[in-house]
Amino acid sequence: MNVLINGAGGAIGAALIERYIAKPEVDRVVAIHHRQVSSVHSKVQWLQCNLREVEEIERCIEQLLLIEQPIHRWICASGYLQGPLGGPEKSMRNIQSAKLQDDFAVNTIGPILLFSGMANKFKLVPDFKAAFLSAQVGSIEDNQLGGWFGYRMSKAALNMGVRCLAIEAGRWRNEPTIVSVHPGTTVSGLSKAFVKQRKAPLQTAATCAEKLDHLIEGLTPEESGNFYKLDGALLPW
Ligand SMILES: NC(=O)c1ccc[n+]([C@@H]2O[C@H](COP(=O)([O-])OP(=O)(O)OC[C@H]3O[C@@H](n4cnc5c(N)ncnc54)[C@H](OP(=O)(O)O)[C@@H]3O)[C@@H](O)[C@H]2O)c1
Repeated sequence: MNVLINGAGGAIGAALIERYIAKPEVDRVVAIHHRQVSSVHSKVQWLQCNLREVEEIERCIEQLLLIEQPIHRWICASGYLQGPLGGPEKSMRNIQSAKLQDDFAVNTIGPILLFSGMANKFKLVPDFKAAFLSAQVGSIEDNQLGGWFGYRMSKAALNMGVRCLAIEAGRWRNEPTIVSVHPGTTVSGLSKAFVKQRKAPLQTAATCAEKLDHLIEGLTPEESGNFYKLDGALLPW
């Protein structure tokens, strides 16, 4: 089995690499990173891509399409909450065009472009499965607090993109399973500034990777197009 992990330099992405390279049935992990490379291993092939840059996404797709072996699993573990353009907006007063556009570029447009550019390769693979890491705060129905406009909006839009991909790909001869997943609050660079007040112990990235692997392997094409928590419970859109 060959696995593609986007966002492989992040906490959850790196833990997914460790999990998959330890599995005897996994021959190869294609790992897409932005800045840092998280590990070096003979099973892992690294490719670089900045999801903000369409040209880089196109170049990355070209490189991915040169890989002759099928890709059986796709996990998008890239994501962006705060950076040079600021952190999540506490109020509508803080909304800025450049930050919103950046959130959408990294959290929504990049992952969907990368996937759709590879679709002709994925459609040949029986039992192909894809999980896009989204966030519960991207659920419109679940939103009782407001704030975090860019992150919430870009993850809600990602969810819609995943749902559209799942519906269209459901017409492929080899029916795939394509879902959005909330990974749960997990120790990572993305979460560390926002979990200080939490009393419950945080999930490690290794635990997240283990649960995600189990979730993905247990899903069937009939469950494609849904939004899941790691324990398999459905989240509302
Ligand atoms: N941790 C949590 O509690 C939590 C909760 C809900 C949802 N999530 C979601 O889970 C996923 C993984 O997050 P994480 O916690 O593992 O965070 P993380 O450690 O910050 O990892 C995020 C990854 O996204 C990559 N990325 C950021 N900007 C990018 C860009 N412009 N182009 C390409 N890649 C880019 C990062 O690469 P660089 O570091 O090299 O920029 C990093 O590899 C994200 O989608 C996140 O929204 C996490």
